[in-house]
This record gives sequence, C-alpha cells and structure tokens, in this order.
Amino acid sequence: MKTIIANWKMNNDLAETKRFCEVISQLHRGGDQEVIICPSFPYLYYLRLHLDSRIRLGAQNCSQYAKGAYTGEVSAAMLKDIGCSYVIVGHSERRAAYNETSQQIKEKVLQAHHCGLTAIICVGENLAENKAGRTIAVLTEQITQSLPETVTEQNTIIAYEPVWAIGSGRVPQSDEIEQIHLALRKNIGILFEKNLKIVYGGSVTGENCRKILSIKNVDGVLVGGASLNIDEFKVILEQI
Ligand code: PGA
Repeated sequence: MKTIIANWKMNNDLAETKRFCEVISQLHRGGDQEVIICPSFPYLYYLRLHLDSRIRLGAQNCSQYAKGAYTGEVSAAMLKDIGCSYVIVGHSERRAAYNETSQQIKEKVLQAHHCGLTAIICVGENLAENKAGRTIAVLTEQITQSLPETVTEQNTIIAYEPVWAIGSGRVPQSDEIEQIHLALRKNIGILFEKNLKIVYGGSVTGENCRKILSIKNVDGVLVGGASLNIDEFKVILEQI
C-alpha cells in the first residue's frame, strides 16, 4: 500500500481548510492508498470532525515532553486525544530553524510511540553533503540516532527528503532514489528487520509523482507545496 502524506507546513487558513476538506472527502476512494493530511495544529480538530474518516491526520511536530510547564508546546497525547494518527518529526526545516537534534527527535518519537501515534521521521542530506558523497553516511547517522528501540513497522515511517530538493523543483534521478532507499535498508539493520516504510519527499508534483511512486523501494511520497493546490493534489491521489 502506497502512503501519500500532505505536509501543509504553515499554510492554509480556515476557509481554505474547509474547501480542501469538502473536495478531498468526496475524492478519496480508500483502496490501495493511505492518505495522511498534516495541517497546522489549529486545524487538526476541524479536519478530524469533518474529513472522511478513512483519511488520516498527522501533526507537523510534537513536544519531546509528556506534559507540564512547556509554554507553546503540544504533546503527543493531545494529538492522539483529538484524533491524530501520525506526527511528522525532525523535518529539515525544524532541524535548521529550531536547531532540533537527532537526540531530541528520538525523544519526540518515543512520545509518539508511547501515545499510539505513528512517527514520520524526516531525514535528508544538504547540498554540500550530497556533493561530497556523504549522503548515505549522513542519513545513516540521522536515522540511527533518532530511532528508539520501540520502533515497529506500524509505528514508524522514514521520509527521505534531500534538503536541496525541498521546494526547489529539483528531484534526484529515479535510480539515485532507488539506490539510496536500498542502501538504507541494507545498512541499517533495524529498517530491514522491522520492514519500515521509506517514503520520498522533495518537490513531488502532480507531474512527477507517478514516476516517483513507481520506483522500487519507494513506499510513498511526502508532498509539501503541491499538496496546497487541491487540483494538483487530486492528480496525485488519482495516480495510485
Ligand atoms: P516540497 O516540500 O514538496 O514543497 O518540496 C516537501 C517537504 O518539505 O516535506
């Protein structure tokens, strides 16, 4: 089953969320796809109340702590409470802008697992690391440092998102993506043993999505910009 994850980032207001909800609820036919919508926190509960229940909801972040005096934070338990099934952790924008470390990401993943959420752990090399041939080393380090022992096939998805491909319109060659996903499975025993899904993210569009989804070892896509345009997102959903 292919997984399609929409990461809205800090976009879409209530009116846009309502419109998206109406269109997408009519569209989703279930079957051989798992669709996960990740809006900003304020819209999660609205979507849970109004969206077709076969469409899953995910948050874009959660606290590394369970509860308490952490002003501005949202716990994994709260996300579970209002009907989320997934949470994105360690997106490269958070690693870069908020200095999130793999250790913190691991703690967030632990919170997610503890509360019954599936963690979507984002990893990716930057352009300099890519050019220096360090992609696999960087990804291996990020994954091994952020995966707790609680990981299972059901509670964790890895999202490979080259930092240089995000929002840039540039996508690695299909055979590079295939090789990287394969190398991760081979190098990191737990990915193989637990049969974790690895999805690809970074400039996925209505146009290139079918090609990316057909790559061996790619279990789905994480879509940023193209998930904001309902017509384009419809194209992505209709392709699988
Ligand atoms: P993009 O973003 O599809 O706009 O490149 C993907 C992401 O950052 O998750």
